[in-house]
Amino acid sequence: MSLIKNPLIVALDVDTVDEAEALAGALAPYTGALKVGMQLFNSAGPEAVRRLIEKKASVFVDLKLHDIPNTVAGAARALTRLGAAIFNVHAAGGRAMMQEAANAARDEAGKSGIKPPQVIAVTVLTSIDEVIFSQELGFHGSIEDRVVAWARLAQEAGLDGVVASPKEISAIRKACGKDFVIITPGVRPAGAAANDQKRTMTPYEAVNLGASYLVVGRPVTAAQDPVEAARAILKEIGLPG
Ligand code: C5P
Repeated sequence: MSLIKNPLIVALDVDTVDEAEALAGALAPYTGALKVGMQLFNSAGPEAVRRLIEKKASVFVDLKLHDIPNTVAGAARALTRLGAAIFNVHAAGGRAMMQEAANAARDEAGKSGIKPPQVIAVTVLTSIDEVIFSQELGFHGSIEDRVVAWARLAQEAGLDGVVASPKEISAIRKACGKDFVIITPGVRPAGAAANDQKRTMTPYEAVNLGASYLVVGRPVTAAQDPVEAARAILKEIGLPG
């Protein structure tokens, strides 16, 4: 069901299109998609996405949209016209917001005669642990229960999948089935620094549990040799590196 065969998505968290293109040029053969998040998008704009698409990259536009349904639907149309292969919204925006985002993306893709992007819901960020979740944010119950509830809501709203921690993959698979897309950031190869990620696993563990895509940023982009770092991840998950 996925648009991408290689499950490795590298996060291009840089400031300029030049830096992004340099990384993309080196990493393209080893990645299924490249992720443009809020750092690059807010400094270089949609042009960053256009330039990567011109280089034949599949682009995951990770802006984590969260606003009233009408506004999110407008952004979903814009990202679809831009050519995003994947984009995301926050599940916390609720059912109507997610439904309107998914419907807008499909409708706009139909009008432009292009394949609709995969619309993905962000659940609980991997930088949030149980203490932050309950004491700062005031949620009751476990992170896993909230993630599964939001995954079900996203599926009912017609979304293609969710972003979640590798720790929640099994529970989401059980609740939402084998075709539901699960994108997992918070992936750290053995020995890599956790940085600000709190709920992590290795690429091997995440793929074995059923992740559809792995999002990896700093362990690749900040490595002395990003290509070697990407190839090591592919080898770890059993793909030719
Ligand atoms: O450098 P690192 O591997 O930690 O980067 C992870 C990437 O995944 C970042 O671009 C971050 O914005 C994104 N992310 C996400 N959802 C989360 C955690 C991280 O999209 N829950």
